[in-house]
Amino acid sequence: MADQADELRKMMSGPVQYQQRVIAVTSGKGGVGKTNVAINLGIALGRYNKKVIVMDADLGLANVNVILGKIPEFNLFHVMKGLKKMRDIVINTNYGIRFIAGASGFSQLANLSEESRNNLVNGLEELNDADIIIIDTGAGVSNNVLSFVLAADEVVIVTTPEPTAITDAYGIIKAISSEATSPDLKLIINRVKSVTEARKVSERVVNIASQFLNMKVNNLGFVFEDEIVSQAVIRQLPFMELDPKSRAAMCLDHLAQRLLKITDKEFKEPKGLKGFFKNIAAFYAE
Ligand SMILES: Nc1ncnc2c1ncn2[C@@H]1O[C@H](COP(=O)(O)OP(=O)(O)OP(=O)(O)O)[C@@H](O)[C@H]1O
Ligand SMILES: [Mg+2]
Repeated sequence: MADQADELRKMMSGPVQYQQRVIAVTSGKGGVGKTNVAINLGIALGRYNKKVIVMDADLGLANVNVILGKIPEFNLFHVMKGLKKMRDIVINTNYGIRFIAGASGFSQLANLSEESRNNLVNGLEELNDADIIIIDTGAGVSNNVLSFVLAADEVVIVTTPEPTAITDAYGIIKAISSEATSPDLKLIINRVKSVTEARKVSERVVNIASQFLNMKVNNLGFVFEDEIVSQAVIRQLPFMELDPKSRAAMCLDHLAQRLLKITDKEFKEPKGLKGFFKNIAAFYAE
């Protein structure tokens, strides 16, 4: 509690202006962990007193609600069709975040009508009581994904160390670079087995984006391979909730701190996890 109060005071002191952040979480390849990252990152940010809304914008296979164990009555389909206002479909959870359910069952390839897309993107403006909106997009390059990515202030690209995932990450960075003038791109390497592996993969992506696309990609960090993730999915609970001390949860907490620019000095190391944090710190030491 004291930590959170300190954090809030810091945020409110000085000439810092309130600014909402819209963060799209996307990937080239499917199944790399976007949805789990989006939800658990949201929860981690919520624990730093941020008002967070996680939006499921995957129009093919919406499943944020599955992981949160909720079946909402209204979802983005109703907003797309103009039947509901975006602000009216926001749902509370027990995890300190709110969420907006996706409209499942649309083909990834079928592009939405311009009107539907506009309803979605314009609806974002109604969510002005959130500090941070995290948008979980579908995988791959489609106009649907790109319209969310372009509506966001920051784009988090998730990849795993698999070569196909890396190639597809490059593909999505290329697609974004041809549409957006100066996107704020951040990279998360998910399912790494070691810090060395994380470092290798992130350097590779950052370097190819710079060399071949002249795009700057900021290395946000990594998430360890951890069986808590699938256990949590099976239990329909976010892993931040199921085991906040798990390796995956610790990584997400650290990613949230990176996004909030909480410095290492302010960073409080939980007891008994010294080695683990040293490990993480080694990755970020440039
Ligand atoms: N860090 C991790 N450690 C272990 N398993 C993981 C990790 N991250 C993801 N997984 C596994 O990958 C599965 C897919 O994750 P998730 O649904 O978040 O991917 P996605 O990118 O959203 O997929 P889609 O493209 O279908 O939307 C999870 O159910 C889990 O089993
Ligand atoms: Mg998903």
